[in-house]
Amino acid sequence: MLNSLPISLRTQVGIVGAGPAGLVLSHLLSLQGIESVVVENRSRQYAEQRVRAGVLEQGTVDLLIEMGVGERMKAEGLVHHGIELRFGGRGHRIDFQDLTGGKGITIYAQHEVLKDLNNARVAAGGQVLFEVDNVSVHDFDSSRPKIRYQKDGNACELTCDFIAGCDGFHGICRPSIPTGVLTEYEREYPFGWLGILAEAPPSSEELIYTYHDRGFALLSMRTPRISRLYLQCKPDEDVDLWSDEKIWQELHTRLASEGWTLTEGQILQKGVTGMRSFVVEPMQYGRLFLAGDSAHIVPPTGAKGLNLAVADVQILARALKHFYSTGSCDLLDTYSAICLRRVWKVQRFSWWMTSMLHRFPDENPFDHRRQLAELDYVTSSRAAAKTLAENYVGLPLE
Ligand code: APR
Ligand code: PHB
Repeated sequence: MLNSLPISLRTQVGIVGAGPAGLVLSHLLSLQGIESVVVENRSRQYAEQRVRAGVLEQGTVDLLIEMGVGERMKAEGLVHHGIELRFGGRGHRIDFQDLTGGKGITIYAQHEVLKDLNNARVAAGGQVLFEVDNVSVHDFDSSRPKIRYQKDGNACELTCDFIAGCDGFHGICRPSIPTGVLTEYEREYPFGWLGILAEAPPSSEELIYTYHDRGFALLSMRTPRISRLYLQCKPDEDVDLWSDEKIWQELHTRLASEGWTLTEGQILQKGVTGMRSFVVEPMQYGRLFLAGDSAHIVPPTGAKGLNLAVADVQILARALKHFYSTGSCDLLDTYSAICLRRVWKVQRFSWWMTSMLHRFPDENPFDHRRQLAELDYVTSSRAAAKTLAENYVGLPLE
């Protein structure tokens, strides 16, 4: 039973969603002396146990350290200076350190990043409200936008200066923008990934992306004892049809390389995810700003989802700091344009990696030979390898 009178609250920036985008934004704002309230419909425990991405770009790593939330990542994250592309049963290393002047990536699970950010928000007295219900956003075409929600049986109304829609692809912020304002760009892929988490020491120091007649496979990891592996599958694959034995057998086949063996272990978690590219333009309307998966989705082949979300909110935090320190909206007015320049470059890279490494059901022999030529080129030309490396470790933030 709801109490009748709504509770009225006030903050500078209202944030919908406590994923990477929402929490990084909230902490960045607090470091700049800007107040925010985050409203999240799931529990903290749920968010902190969801198995998601695991690759942090150099820029994301540097930001988390600058924000003071990088200690555990520095201690537990796995720093990598390259990846392997495997095709024709042979591996070819892309040397990030050599090709990008020393940049690398860090393997550190997204849910671990969320734990560190949540702990930092609590320590800073930040307001992150979990398990709220019926969130809605209003009046964002005015100077007093509002977030309405229910918490512990109370109807609440949070009046803000600005709202950040960090509520992911299935959130409510993007759909709240009036019809006719947004343009959507989308590509569905004719395959998905079957992913497993296994109690098995990774069989490679670095990630292995493999192109095989039977389909793509990826060897990744979470810790020295936990492997993360993926298999290309049908987009609507029924994971229950895949026994542990069948999964390992397929991984052995696709990842096979002379003199190399894949170590098996107990599968702790398995699941199928579909793949799409999606962008909405613009990423803002009035005083509502979309950031992260609420505005765009990339296929996971480029390991960009989390990193792109963090880049968006860095740009938004910079614009909000400029507004509160000068009263000028000029950076806020260019938020979408600046983000989209990066978003589309990251979309291109993610599409390119996906197109190069996966078997397409409608491909013909020409396509197959073209893919092999692409792989041969990127592993034999320094210029081509450099483009992969600079995109993979992360393009500089504008
Ligand atoms: N009300 C409140 N919170 C919501 C609502 C809602 N109506 N809808 C969604 N949320 C919350 C989700 O529960 C989630 O915690 O918003 C958060 C959105 O987080 P993400 O989906 O992780 O999106 P984002 O922060 O942009 O990070 C993108 O996360 O999902 C991965 O692959 C994705 O790596 C990428 C990264
Ligand atoms: C992961 O470790 O989950 C991962 C790594 C690289 C990718 C995608 C996922 O491209």
